[in-house]
Amino acid sequence: MREIKRLEYRTFLKYNSEVTIENVKVKLAREHKIKKLAPTDFQRETTTVWSFPNRGDWATHKGNYRGNWSPYIPRNILLRYSEKGDLVLDQMMGSGTTLVECKLLGRNAIGVDINPDAIMVARNRLDFPYKPLDEEYREPEIKTYVGDARNLNLIKSETIDLIATHPPYAGIISYTKNRVEGDLSSLNVSDFTSEMIKVAEESFRVLKPDKHLAILIGDTRKHKHYIPINVRVLEAVLETGFILREDIIKQQWRMKSTRERWRGKYNFLLIAHEHLYVFRKPGKGEKTTKFKHSIKWW
Ligand SMILES: C[S@@+](CC[C@H](N)C(=O)[O-])C[C@H]1O[C@@H](n2cnc3c(N)ncnc32)[C@H](O)[C@@H]1O
Repeated sequence: MREIKRLEYRTFLKYNSEVTIENVKVKLAREHKIKKLAPTDFQRETTTVWSFPNRGDWATHKGNYRGNWSPYIPRNILLRYSEKGDLVLDQMMGSGTTLVECKLLGRNAIGVDINPDAIMVARNRLDFPYKPLDEEYREPEIKTYVGDARNLNLIKSETIDLIATHPPYAGIISYTKNRVEGDLSSLNVSDFTSEMIKVAEESFRVLKPDKHLAILIGDTRKHKHYIPINVRVLEAVLETGFILREDIIKQQWRMKSTRERWRGKYNFLLIAHEHLYVFRKPGKGEKTTKFKHSIKWW
């Protein structure tokens, strides 16, 4: 891991007005035009089905980073599983949606991505003034690193209060055209699964006992048959000792992958959901036998 600080970002911004993620150009704003800093009519999700037809455009959130998650997802996770002043990790942060929500909600944060260009997008999205009237709000410390989710060597064990992360779905959407070594989006499903075990192990190491890991994962289809990547990721995470707390179905509204082009042409269903799993690391000395159906059962 290597920290990318404000000065490096400001220097980058001086000479670059955009970055290219795979084949999509993402503009870096010199100054953001922000219409609102929070969602209007926000209500915390209370069931295991989440659906956000309007993905959310408050603060600096934009849908133009490939496959980025709707800010409603980290907002819900942060409000349910963390407190103000906690330290939150997103080790595959992409455009930094989780970090922007941490800034708005007063959580300290660490963001990591394998692609240095992603860090510049994330830092750019965090680059807006924010001084809420809320007396309890303390400006959080937000750090960004270029690094590999499988080896978080600069994060000490048991220091993180919540992990909210969103890996590539194996190779469905490529992020760096194999340009960046270690990019999990260049892997086939089998290799991706083995590498996700390492991501789960690092998550287990850095998370404090009794704290949560939330991970969003989607599936794919090949030769007209379903490939449940989510099940592989579920098994990888349970393998490391986590307990499953929630399996949330997240409805997908705008699918930019090839799936969209198949509409009406084949006799199979379009995949329109993802799984948001929430796991809990057992507390210190906690007996897990009573959770025997929510832990590794094989
Ligand atoms: C689905 S995107 C995350 C999008 C993010 N939630 C957002 O809202 O912008 C997955 C990210 O994982 C990153 N990634 C791929 N392999 C990685 C690895 N080994 N370590 C850290 N990040 C990785 C990619 O560069 C990409 O930015």
